[in-house]
Amino acid sequence: MQHLLEICYLIGSFGFIIGLKLMGQPDSARKGNLIAAFGMAVAVFATLFLSKTGFQVIGNIGYILAAILLGTVVGTLMAKRVQMTAMPEMVSIFNGMGGLAAALISIIEWRNIEHEIIESNVAEMVANFGLPEGFTIVPMSHYLPIIAGLIIGTISFVGSIIAWGKLNGKIGDFRFAGQQFINAIVLIAIMAAAYMNYHHVNTLEAGTNVWFYVTMGLAIIYGLLFVFPIGGADMPVVISLLNSFTGVAAACGGFLYDNNVMLMGGVLVGSAGTILTVVMCKAMNRSLTNVLIGMAGSNSSSGGAAVSGNVREVQATDVAVMMKYASKVIIVPGYGLAVAQAQHVCHELENILTEEGVDVKYAIHPVAGRMPGHMNVLLAESNVEYDKLIEMEHINSEFPTTDVVLVVGANDVVNPAAKTDPTSPIYGMPILDVDQAKQIVVLKRSMKSGYAGIENALFFDPKCGMLFGDAKDSLQKLVNEVKAL
Ligand code: TAP
Repeated sequence: MQHLLEICYLIGSFGFIIGLKLMGQPDSARKGNLIAAFGMAVAVFATLFLSKTGFQVIGNIGYILAAILLGTVVGTLMAKRVQMTAMPEMVSIFNGMGGLAAALISIIEWRNIEHEIIESNVAEMVANFGLPEGFTIVPMSHYLPIIAGLIIGTISFVGSIIAWGKLNGKIGDFRFAGQQFINAIVLIAIMAAAYMNYHHVNTLEAGTNVWFYVTMGLAIIYGLLFVFPIGGADMPVVISLLNSFTGVAAACGGFLYDNNVMLMGGVLVGSAGTILTVVMCKAMNRSLTNVLIGMAGSNSSSGGAAVSGNVREVQATDVAVMMKYASKVIIVPGYGLAVAQAQHVCHELENILTEEGVDVKYAIHPVAGRMPGHMNVLLAESNVEYDKLIEMEHINSEFPTTDVVLVVGANDVVNPAAKTDPTSPIYGMPILDVDQAKQIVVLKRSMKSGYAGIENALFFDPKCGMLFGDAKDSLQKLVNEVKAL
């Protein structure tokens, strides 16, 4: 019985690890999510109803169950209603709540400490008898997780709320000269205030100790300054970084309460967030500093050599003929597919072509769309088989033997400038080599640029035809035309 709590925590931790592993593949991701949720349920149940000595219901159980119920209802409704394109916004809000929870834990624990100091008359005893040799009122090992949880949790909460506002267009970019310098000053001020707080409480200086709240105020300012200058479309990278902050803040709670499953959960979130941030930066060939300074983050950024030539416009009838009589077609989905919500009709076209004996696959670029795994999730929604979704490094060798590549609302991820133009902002970013295919058809509404704000020489390639229009309408036309042939 004594070890039941630890066994439950172990089950919880295993659930998180196995869940994370399974989430790495689209076909097992759903199962992974359920296993991790089961692990969390076991850990929560154990915390509420078990103690180190056996069964014992935790204090304030009524409030806790009411909060769980409220969170479950709100979370379920939000998750069910959210549009695919608004998913990064929701992730941001959820992450912000995690940061807030971690900061609140620190505030509560700090207030407890202050209360205990007053209750136990420590100040009076020390005044009368002096501080015993080697004695600290709040040891550093206890203070560090509290103050780190407060700082990191607050930054994560404030940053995530700003990120949410930027993603839904309610908050714009805000930059001023010397911002990085001011940020560094604020960061140093946070450390100084945190130290002053530690010093004040351990030396029992007279007067009200405001340093804890000064630290919190400065962390709020840092959270604002940190996220404000970053371009709206770079937010997924920042959210992932803030996500890892929340993990570290939660791990601080684990240290504080000597709670292994909280520590493990926090460490996993922290490391997974960091890895995802690095992977996204790598796939965009940008350094994290570059993203954080917001150099190429805004949609208005431009650069690269000018592109000229003739654009060849094509009609759905011609494209339908090309595809029906092709032996191999690769579909390249991009952000425009998500905007047009064209995933279902795209799958319909794939099915019709497959029935006609055409080998159809999807080429998935790691940063196609606006969030990690955007295309996988979108296509999974319309029940595209997972083994038809081929990652960039595996599909690139197949383009030279492909008859038709259908680029649906993608732009930067197929831009050859990434290989050929050293002056281009995307130079060095790995791309899908669609220009190697025999025929290319691009579905988009206009000649406008994509997220990076640059021209795409692919659209001027003599092998490339442009089918202008909303992706959903164009795909529907293609479905009708192929059926009619
Ligand atoms: P983009 O380069 O942004 O191009 C999307 C294209 O879709 C646009 O050129 C647009 O052209 C077209 N489009 C928009 N709405 C459409 C509609 N309703 N119907 C048809 N076409 C439509 O997208 P991409 O190729 O997927 O590349 C993603 C970009 O986002 C990369 O630069 C990447 O670095 C960046 N990014 C990605 C992530 C992640 S994690 N995925 C995170 C941050 C940044 P029209 O306006 O002419 O239609």
